[in-house]
Amino acid sequence: MQPVYNFTKMKNILLLGSGGRECALAWKLSQSPLCGTFFIAPGNAGTSEYGINLPIQVNDFAAIRQACLDYKIDILFPGPEDPLVAGIYDYFKSDTRLKHIIVVGPSKDGAQLEGSKAFSKKFMARHCIPTAAYQEFTADSFERGVAYIKRSEPPYVIKADGLAAGKGVVIAQSSVDAVKAFRAMVMNQQFGDASKTVVIEQFLDGIELSVFAFTDGDNYVLLPEAKDYKRIGEGDTGLNTGGMGAISPVPIADEKFMQKVTERIIRPTINGLKAEKIVYQGIIFFGLIKVKEEPYVIEYNCRLGDPETEVVLPRLENDLVELIVKMEEGKLREVKAEYSNKAAATVMLVAEGYPGDYEKGREMSGFEQVKGSHLFHAGTKQSLKSKVQSLKSGIQNAGSDENVIVTNGGRVLAITSLGDTLKQALQKSYENAELIQYDGKYCRKDIGWEFL
Ligand code: AMP
Ligand code: GLY
Repeated sequence: MQPVYNFTKMKNILLLGSGGRECALAWKLSQSPLCGTFFIAPGNAGTSEYGINLPIQVNDFAAIRQACLDYKIDILFPGPEDPLVAGIYDYFKSDTRLKHIIVVGPSKDGAQLEGSKAFSKKFMARHCIPTAAYQEFTADSFERGVAYIKRSEPPYVIKADGLAAGKGVVIAQSSVDAVKAFRAMVMNQQFGDASKTVVIEQFLDGIELSVFAFTDGDNYVLLPEAKDYKRIGEGDTGLNTGGMGAISPVPIADEKFMQKVTERIIRPTINGLKAEKIVYQGIIFFGLIKVKEEPYVIEYNCRLGDPETEVVLPRLENDLVELIVKMEEGKLREVKAEYSNKAAATVMLVAEGYPGDYEKGREMSGFEQVKGSHLFHAGTKQSLKSKVQSLKSGIQNAGSDENVIVTNGGRVLAITSLGDTLKQALQKSYENAELIQYDGKYCRKDIGWEFL
């Protein structure tokens, strides 16, 4: 039976961000019968299929505030970490005209779980949550840090404390390289303030996976788990990227393992936040590693993962807006998570040269030929064909004034498919990946390889 909705309860929503994660969120949120007028800031060519894109950047709190007032927003959903770590939750809650708005995400203190590695390590130590052994250092304790490296076994894991656009972790094979990375961060401020403090930790050898809890501060709903593929090259080689693909479910996350994750990691984290009076309503992303049979936390994030979201949400059968309302009411205990038993796989199409330098503005085609997959846009935007052709030919106003989609980032398009098996889901995504065209298209051909 269809649930009966009270449409006076419809919510106007503003989603922040412009990646594949946000496109998947836009797809999911806009399906809800509870979704009123829906905006995305700044969004991309894909999100505009589901709502209205606003030209506002995710850290422009004043412009976000004004949009919330102008459009009578009821729910603010920050997709990426930056606005959360910068304190958008507190900004809203301390403003009399904004404080009634539901913010899906933690307070500034809670976002420190992602915003500061040193904070998260101390938090885990206080609550006996399994993680790699570590010490933290600053410029003042540089010599002690060097001694710590020399006493430790390789490989060495050196982490900038703060946000460093995914580049703040170095895994060094020799102590010489480890000291070099440590010096660059702490003495030469490679990442500015973000590397004033550095965490040096024990290397954990195992299989990584991403687990997501949607919490109201007391209880939580577990979202489907996922595994992402971070390296640019096949066989997990080459440089780290924002993520080249993802799968869900993850075969290594069996019931026994997930029970350990719940008891040793998820529960103690939520209880610990509550005990420390840290306001946290939203997503806790547990970046885990399974070492032998035991789970450890590699990192926390205060938001959904990208590209994990592109496989998590297509498997989540609950209404996401209803979950958000239940979160605000502190009633997530009443909600039962419902997942599709299908397998989901996403393959990310990227720009030639990524994660190094790459060009934007390449015209894309083939969208209408794709059948049986979701296309979650990441780095794309609408552009006038005349503009694209003028850039190509150097002639002003070449071509027509038709609207086309062009590449606008390193990660361009996530192609997600569901299948009865992981193999079928992957096959579908790869078939459709062939149909999308743009100059310099690249994708990894081996997503999910270790489970096939
Ligand atoms: P993080 O930003 O903390 O997630 O680290 C980025 C990546 O570095 C992780 O996804 C892991 O692949 C790797 N990594 C981080 N910490 C460790 C560790 N202690 N042992 C092994 N690999 C790690
Ligand atoms: N895919 C990892 C992340 O979103 O941080």
